Amino acid sequence: MAEHVSVTQISKYVGQEVTLKGWVYNRTDKGKLSFLLVRDGTGFIQCVAFKGDLSPELFEQISHLPQESSVIITGSVREDKRAPGIPGGYEVGIKDLQVVQTAELDYPMSLKDHGVDFALDNRHLWIRMQSQWAILRVRATVMAATREWLDTNGFTAMDTPILTPAAAEGTTTLFETEYFDEGKAYLAQTGQLYNEANIFAFGKVYCFGPTFRAEKSKTRRHLTEFWMLEPEIAFCDLDGLMEVEEQMITHIVQRVLRDREPELKFLGRDLSKLENIKAPFPRISYDDAAKMLQDLYEKETDPEKKELLKFDWGIDFGAPHETAITQQFDKPVFVYGYPSAVKAFYMEPWPGRPEVCKSVDLLAPEGYGEICGGSERMSSHENLLARIHKEGLPEDAFKWYLDLRKYGSVPHSGFGMGTERVTAWMCGIEHVREAIAFPRTIKRVYP
Ligand code: 4AD
Ligand code: MG
Repeated sequence: MAEHVSVTQISKYVGQEVTLKGWVYNRTDKGKLSFLLVRDGTGFIQCVAFKGDLSPELFEQISHLPQESSVIITGSVREDKRAPGIPGGYEVGIKDLQVVQTAELDYPMSLKDHGVDFALDNRHLWIRMQSQWAILRVRATVMAATREWLDTNGFTAMDTPILTPAAAEGTTTLFETEYFDEGKAYLAQTGQLYNEANIFAFGKVYCFGPTFRAEKSKTRRHLTEFWMLEPEIAFCDLDGLMEVEEQMITHIVQRVLRDREPELKFLGRDLSKLENIKAPFPRISYDDAAKMLQDLYEKETDPEKKELLKFDWGIDFGAPHETAITQQFDKPVFVYGYPSAVKAFYMEPWPGRPEVCKSVDLLAPEGYGEICGGSERMSSHENLLARIHKEGLPEDAFKWYLDLRKYGSVPHSGFGMGTERVTAWMCGIEHVREAIAFPRTIKRVYP
């Protein structure tokens, strides 16, 4: 048998005989020719069966192969600009084909458009489709590029627990479970607090794992289970944090462009919008963002849009506010110094302005909005204890966290990046639910 190669490597084998192992994605018959679009996990390629090259039985079998049948194909590689596929431009002239399994004829995900609920019910099959495959390949590269940047910039990877004793990001989005004789435990909303312990041992750390929020919101930006990357850095203030974020995001975008161009092109992504994403990113204060929104509100003539832009100092941004702000920039924009009241308990107050905190959100362009949220952390034991009391949080559960402010406390900062939000932005897709293989939302825990 000829060498087994993958579709991504096919350009190196022009004129040679190769073996492909994969699945029949689509089939078109034209008299003496049968065109198979075959996928092998790394790409999609056209394979052509010509009646004259094959035994009558084999040609008959190929020209009746159902969608999704698994096959092993041997054939010769040719360059052909017109050949469809991802990346496309090559085809294989079939010399032999072995059927591993003939798929049943009632495959639910035929290649027509399906309603989104039907597609989500069949997510286990939907991920085989070109668009979904392309998105999830981009996701994998986003994650790999993230780890690559952190690992080569002095960060130590730490794994933080999923089962935790207390809330860290507000008590309204907790998933609760019984924990033996210990009472209640909660699925982690963040690994941050543990990473704050980790930095005192390792300096710069990150965790990258699943995160859980019982989000009642049914928006295109929210999942109940998502993957969050969380770096945490000792001896780092808010400015230092923004530098880390912009360097890391630049690296992620540039590597996605380098490695996933065929996928992005298939998705119809405007690459020029991503090519422009290079540090430094603009930085504006919450106060300035509020002024910007006020100006946009005054200029807006459409009454419906005007209503959505309504904004008073002190509230958190809604999706329409974030969209309006990001439309003023062609790069991600940092908004820093939010009102303390709308942010988490652990954020360092702004010097001389206790109603404001040293927080920063990074908003992605083209209306994508918040992709990263972070802050400088409270480093004083006294202030942190006061805040824990004020928020009505259980002091006992935070005893260890308070210890960190007693033994060698330093200014420190960190942020969280939502993998699905970054992936959705890279791909130019509407909804984060397509940016994870098996999405969990308020209405969905199947399949
Ligand atoms: O802004 P968030 O809630 O920040 C934290 O959890 C901090 N503890 C992170 C830290 O400083 N270490 O979440 C961070 C990011 C958001 O910017 C967003 O990209 C993503 O996580 N995110 C979600 N993504 C999908 N679905 C949800 N329900 C999300 N909630 C947050
Ligand atoms: Mg946030």
